[in-house]
Amino acid sequence: MNLRTPGPTPIPANVRKALSQQMIDHRGVEFSEMQPRITERLQTLFETRNDVLILTTSGTGALEAVIVNTLSPGDRVLAVSIGAFGQRFGRIAETYGAEVTWLEVEWGEAARPEDIGRTLDENPGVTAVLVTHNETSTGVTNPLREIASVVKSRDKLLLVDAVSSLGSLPCPIDEWDLDVVATGSQKGWMVPPGLAMVSMSERGWAASARSKMPRFYLDLSAAKRYLEQGQTPWTPAISLYFALDVALEGLIEEGTAAIHARHARAGDRVRARVKSMGLRLFPADERFASNTVTAIRIPEGVEVADFRKRAREKHGVILAGGQAKLAQTIFRIGHLGHIPDEELDAALDAVEATLETSESTPRVVGRST
Ligand SMILES: Cc1ncc(COP(=O)(O)O)c(C=O)c1O
Repeated sequence: MNLRTPGPTPIPANVRKALSQQMIDHRGVEFSEMQPRITERLQTLFETRNDVLILTTSGTGALEAVIVNTLSPGDRVLAVSIGAFGQRFGRIAETYGAEVTWLEVEWGEAARPEDIGRTLDENPGVTAVLVTHNETSTGVTNPLREIASVVKSRDKLLLVDAVSSLGSLPCPIDEWDLDVVATGSQKGWMVPPGLAMVSMSERGWAASARSKMPRFYLDLSAAKRYLEQGQTPWTPAISLYFALDVALEGLIEEGTAAIHARHARAGDRVRARVKSMGLRLFPADERFASNTVTAIRIPEGVEVADFRKRAREKHGVILAGGQAKLAQTIFRIGHLGHIPDEELDAALDAVEATLETSESTPRVVGRST
């Protein structure tokens, strides 16, 4: 099967092999040597000197960790939402009692830094800003560097969901001064789902010391204390650590510039082909189209679920559908991780062939000149 979802990503052979290793004692020597090595490699790829904590949880668990470790009930925060994951981040904050001011942007568009600045000026009580770097549900990448600059010029804490961007798209944490940043193993890291990584700045730790939201399993200060002994507070997903260790070795060897260029090339390749089929990208402005996932409007008369079913059954290509209110409007092609060009092309061939044989609209696909 040609898995073209925006996570989980296909896993390289050496990572699959690492997964099959025998268990080790997570309080023993081998683990305590492996964990600092992984952490250091993550710091290199995150481009940060901040602490990086690894949690056994999915990306959503990491977002919850970000919230409960930095905020208190009643804190006023600004949630910038450009899609389903932006909503989720803000809802987690609401769930734990934060007072959320929403800046909701039309799905398909990126957030405008000036709007964030204005909203912060109108709401001086806000102490933290929640933002999604790459909105996987709409295929839009926010201008995070510019957003960070606006947020930092107003001296607010910046909490970032970089689940589907970090390790794939440029996101230099120290250079952009991002306080708390979360990602998940099943994205560009090319590891199965189940580990989340969180980077925490000095300012993040200061917020954590004041924070009164309840936390136990996701307590980052416990994770930091145990990391100092090469351990985790609770039993970690050891197999996933083996996998991450091997995957990171390859990524470090490749280097961040080459990783980002690889994703930029994949994004360009997919967008060019999609447009040549006469299809419309979902992002309103192509400058903000994501290089990890492409969201495409389904042509009129074609049913997304049926189209995806036929792409899978006839061509072995797994495409993603749209989420929430976009379920009937778009489909998505994931291109995170290492994907041979032939595999991307095969997925795009399948999209074209499936649309051409679409019964309801016999001639939906026409090559633009
Ligand atoms: C931007 C973004 N945030 C959060 C998540 C949630 O991660 P998980 O599904 O691993 O809980 C995802 C997953 O697709 C995502 O793409």
